[in-house]
Amino acid sequence: MFYEDKFREIGASVIVTTADGSYGIRGFATDALPHTGLYTYTYSCGPEPMLRAVYKAAATSGQYSFEERMACGFGVCMGCSCRTVTGYKRICKDGPVLKKEEILWK
Ligand code: FES
Repeated sequence: MFYEDKFREIGASVIVTTADGSYGIRGFATDALPHTGLYTYTYSCGPEPMLRAVYKAAATSGQYSFEERMACGFGVCMGCSCRTVTGYKRICKDGPVLKKEEILWK
């Protein structure tokens, strides 16, 4: 685990999860949400299945940093696009961070 102490030093409430339970809570990041108490905002980064799970589980607004496969990497192929309330956004050009309110996931 790295930077756990650094986050605590700046006053962050840190909850660690590991898939096998070898450290912290056994499970995924979404399994930590019930243990967080009152939170007002979420910041998530990781693979899309995890972002979708946080999006669905989190009761608040938040920001989602996408790890998306990119073909061109400069905004011309639309291969990394995500559907939003204002149309498709390219993660490579318009992201990688999108706000929860703008993402349209089914
Ligand atoms: S990778 Fe081509 S538009 Fe993003």
